[in-house]
Amino acid sequence: MERTFLMVKPDGVQRGLIGRIISRFEDKGFKLVAGKLVQISSIQAQTHYAEHEGKPFFGELVDFITSGPVFAMVWEGDDVIALSRLVIGKTKVTEALPGTIRGDFAAHTPFNLIHGSDGPESAEREIANFFEAQELLGYSKNLDLWI
Ligand code: PPS
Repeated sequence: MERTFLMVKPDGVQRGLIGRIISRFEDKGFKLVAGKLVQISSIQAQTHYAEHEGKPFFGELVDFITSGPVFAMVWEGDDVIALSRLVIGKTKVTEALPGTIRGDFAAHTPFNLIHGSDGPESAEREIANFFEAQELLGYSKNLDLWI
């Protein structure tokens, strides 16, 4: 089963969108296996965005992501990496379609609410940057027991 790292950025936390963002992934049928509110350090942010080091927006990106708490999560499901990026929508808010998280809620590009891993290697690296192995919970869902 594939896993991805998703993170509600400081703008999403400040705007009170954590619950609605989580709902999008629950509605899609993915399974939340870890989640926590964290204030990330500059070092942790630079590690997370290491592939963008040297780009003109790198400093701005690190400043933004460390400007307040983020809600870090690990989600599990078939093709969860690619499918969650469809749920999130395009990076540039002018290209993010209605029905996606960014298309519905984001209006300025750096403030695009949520990060999602772009491939299996980055998912593994990003999960390890935020979570200890024992924080990832394996459990099964059985709706017949609860509904
Ligand atoms: S690139 O160069 O095409 O790989 O970059 P891109 O995929 O468009 O964006 C990578 C992440 O950087 C964020 N971004 C910015 N942050 C601050 N300021 C500016 N100008 C800016 N431009 C892009 C963008 O939201 C991506 O963040 P994540 O968290 O990966 O979605």
